[in-house]
Amino acid sequence: MNITVIGSGYVGLVSGACFSEMGNRVTCMDIDPVKIEKLNQGIIPIFEPGLEQMVLKNVKNKNLLFKINLGEAISDAEIVFIAVGTPMGEDGSADLQYVLAVAKSIGETMVKELVVVDKSTVPVGTADQVKATIQKELDLRNSDLQFDVVSNPEFLKEGAAISDFMKPDRVVIGADSEIAFKKMKELYSPFFRSHDRFIAMDIRSAEMTKYAANAMLATKISFMNEIANICEKVGADANQVRIGIGSDQRIGYSFIYPGVGYGGSCFPKDVMALTKIAKEYGYKAQLITAVEKVNDAQKLVIAQKIVKRFGEDLTGCTFGIWGLAFKPGTDDMREAPSIYVIKELVKRGAKIKTYDPKAVNEAKEHYLKGIKNIEYVDSKYEVLKNADALVLLTEWKEFRSPDFEEIKTQLKTPVIFDGRNQYIAYDLQNKGFEYYRIGK
Ligand SMILES: NC(=O)c1ccc[n+]([C@@H]2O[C@H](COP(=O)([O-])OP(=O)(O)OC[C@H]3O[C@@H](n4cnc5c(N)ncnc54)[C@H](O)[C@@H]3O)[C@@H](O)[C@H]2O)c1
Repeated sequence: MNITVIGSGYVGLVSGACFSEMGNRVTCMDIDPVKIEKLNQGIIPIFEPGLEQMVLKNVKNKNLLFKINLGEAISDAEIVFIAVGTPMGEDGSADLQYVLAVAKSIGETMVKELVVVDKSTVPVGTADQVKATIQKELDLRNSDLQFDVVSNPEFLKEGAAISDFMKPDRVVIGADSEIAFKKMKELYSPFFRSHDRFIAMDIRSAEMTKYAANAMLATKISFMNEIANICEKVGADANQVRIGIGSDQRIGYSFIYPGVGYGGSCFPKDVMALTKIAKEYGYKAQLITAVEKVNDAQKLVIAQKIVKRFGEDLTGCTFGIWGLAFKPGTDDMREAPSIYVIKELVKRGAKIKTYDPKAVNEAKEHYLKGIKNIEYVDSKYEVLKNADALVLLTEWKEFRSPDFEEIKTQLKTPVIFDGRNQYIAYDLQNKGFEYYRIGK
């Protein structure tokens, strides 16, 4: 099939690459000329395991193209995906300006029947707005071209995006026409050969499913962080409690690690957007509001432990930070807890030395840009040279089994703050460390 993906970020580029991997002819379009220029030179602008090889292979096979002009990009397409950003607007609701700008351009330039698919995470009712926007432009052109609008929310996880997309747990399709369902099924069938994972529903339910999924996952995280904070007060160990409750199949082990809170491009904005959507329809979403509040406070719990140990004024202290990305496997730093922890420590006069396997450029160029007293180094041990403590914020595999003698040699004092709850899975007290973690 001829597919066009508009927006070539984490979701658009991965989706485009995976559709092309299945033999479709895919055009990825983006408004950012630098991004498209880079992609045309074979430079992949984001880090995602397996993405580079897949893109380069399919470009070579001529299954994957990159374009800057939307009209040109959609001229041969049967299905057009909208995968542009839906960032948090000033009032916390999802900002739809990019989605609607794309819809307008589609209406202005489409030359044949189309299935237009919202893959971006969008509030309930957005498909109707997309449809109306396209129709308005067609009417202005006196065109009677037919099109369908479909909701196909994306559930991939950064860091495992390719495998999630190639072997999805489910593909949710919200549509109101048989033709659209049929086309979407044809496109996705190769991704689940052994058994059908296609979940068909109405458009509004599909739009809501994405928010409900992210809100559920965020709730698990905030729930466990709250339990961890109570554990600390009552003298229990959140890690033992985690194992104790996770063994119940109704609860399960995933997403119940206490830590520095959730970040990333999705949970914070989607949780916030869902409360706004509810409010718009006259409902006060109390639980989801609390999930966000717990998370906001949780980002600073590790900084509070540092203050308790080293004092309110951290002038003269240096902290070695392992991990900047909001989670391992990605260079994405959107809403990463590391941003909040580092800013808090720097505000109190501390110096920071930090290492992350992938996210240093993002930190330098965007999220920690202009903040003085941060030194970026090339290895996890260099970070610790003359530092007062090691602070672990992202659970990259290379931090899991470090050389403890080396850590002790480098640090001024053998103090470790583990923001990922016993990620360094050793009995650190017995190794001569002062060890602080969340939930104990
Ligand atoms: N990142 C994730 O893990 C993830 C997972 C599931 C769903 N989502 C959702 O998918 C959507 C995209 O997220 P992302 O992380 O890929 O965002 P991103 O910021 O990485 O990429 C968005 C891209 O859209 C481009 N763009 C903006 N306006 C455009 C326009 N008018 N025409 C063409 N391109 C345009 C931007 O230049 C950018 O390259 C969001 O709604 C997000 O919530 C993201």
